[in-house]
Amino acid sequence: MRYFEARIVENSSLGGGYFLLVLSGCHALANSQPGQFVMVRGDWDRDPLLPRAFSLLDVGADGGAAILAKTVGRGTALLERAEPGAKLSVLGPLGSHFPPPSDEFTDLLVGGGVGIPPLYMQAQIASRRGLAHRSEILYGGRSQHDLVLLSEMRAFGTGLFLTTDDGSSGRHGLVTAELEARLDSHVVGSDSSRVGGKVRILACGPNAMLWAVARMARDRRVPCFISVEEQMACGIGVCLGCAVPARSRPFRYACKDGPVFDAADILDVSPALPLSAVGCPS
Ligand SMILES: Cc1cc2nc3c(=O)[nH]c(=O)nc-3n(C[C@H](O)[C@H](O)[C@H](O)COP(=O)(O)OP(=O)(O)OC[C@H]3O[C@@H](n4cnc5c(N)ncnc54)[C@H](O)[C@@H]3O)c2cc1C
Ligand code: FES
Repeated sequence: MRYFEARIVENSSLGGGYFLLVLSGCHALANSQPGQFVMVRGDWDRDPLLPRAFSLLDVGADGGAAILAKTVGRGTALLERAEPGAKLSVLGPLGSHFPPPSDEFTDLLVGGGVGIPPLYMQAQIASRRGLAHRSEILYGGRSQHDLVLLSEMRAFGTGLFLTTDDGSSGRHGLVTAELEARLDSHVVGSDSSRVGGKVRILACGPNAMLWAVARMARDRRVPCFISVEEQMACGIGVCLGCAVPARSRPFRYACKDGPVFDAADILDVSPALPLSAVGCPS
C-alpha cells in the first residue's frame, strides 16, 4: 500500500475546534469500513515530520472522503487552516473495522469527542441497509460544543442519545450513564437475558471512556468492540510504537491488529502498562 495524493475540496469549521475536511482523489478508500483510518500528511515543511491518524467519517464511490478532526496540536492546527485545493498525502484504508450492522443485534454505538466518526459511518451504513431501527448512537462530550454533525446523524433515523459533562445539551453526565440506562432498557438483569434480541456495544473515544464501557459490557455479558486511538507514527505495523497489551498475544498493535479490538482481549491486561504509556515520536 502506498501514499496517494488527495485534495481538500471543503474545510468547514464546526466550532469548538472541530472541523470537517472533505477530500477528493480518494478512490482507494471507496470500500473502507467503519473503524478504519488513514494516515494524513499535509504539503507542509518538516514540522511535524510524521503523518497523523484520522478515522474515516464517510467515503464515496466517486473518490470523495470526509474526516472529522479536532485541533489539539501542530498537525491538526495546520490541517484546520488548510485551504480548499491543498494537497494531502494519504495512506489507507488501514486497520481493522467494526462488525457490520446485522438484523441479529441492536448496536449501541458509544462515542465521545473525536471518537464519533467510525460510529457515524456505522450508523450511516445501518440506515442505508434498512437497519436504522437496530442502532442507537450514544454521543457524549464535555459541552454542547463537543457534539457535532447532529442533524446529519438524526437523518440516519437511528436512536440518538446525547450527554454532556456540563449539562449544556442532552443528559447531564457521562455517556457511560446513558449506556447503563440503554442497557437497562434492552437487557434484563446481568445474566444476558434480553428483550428484543441481542445487544452489542461498539465504542470509540477517550481511553478512560473505553475502559468504563468495556467493564460495563463484561459485567453485563454483552459483546463489545472498542476502537482505541493510540498515538501512531507509521500506521502500518513497522515502528511498533502502538503496542497494546493483550490476552491473545503479549502485545497487539493498534494500527494493524486494531484499532478495533474485541474489548475482552485487551481489558484489564497488564494494568501496570496503560495504553498512554506507549508513545511514538512526533
Ligand atoms: C486510529 C486513530 C484514529 C483517529 N481518528 C481521529 C479522528 O477521526 N479525528 C481526530 O481529530 N483525531 C483522531 N485521532 C487522533 C489524532 O491522530 C491526533 O489528535 C493527532 O495525531 C494529533 O496531532 P497533532 O500534531 O495535532 O498533535 P500533537 O502535537 O502530536 O499532540 C497534541 C496532544 O494530543 C495528544 N495526542 C496525539 N495523538 C493522540 C492520540 N492518538 N490519542 C490521544 N492523544 C493524542 C498528544 O499526546 C499531545 O498531548 C485518531 C488517532 C488514531 C490512532
Ligand atoms: S503505528 Fe507504527 S506499528 Fe503501529
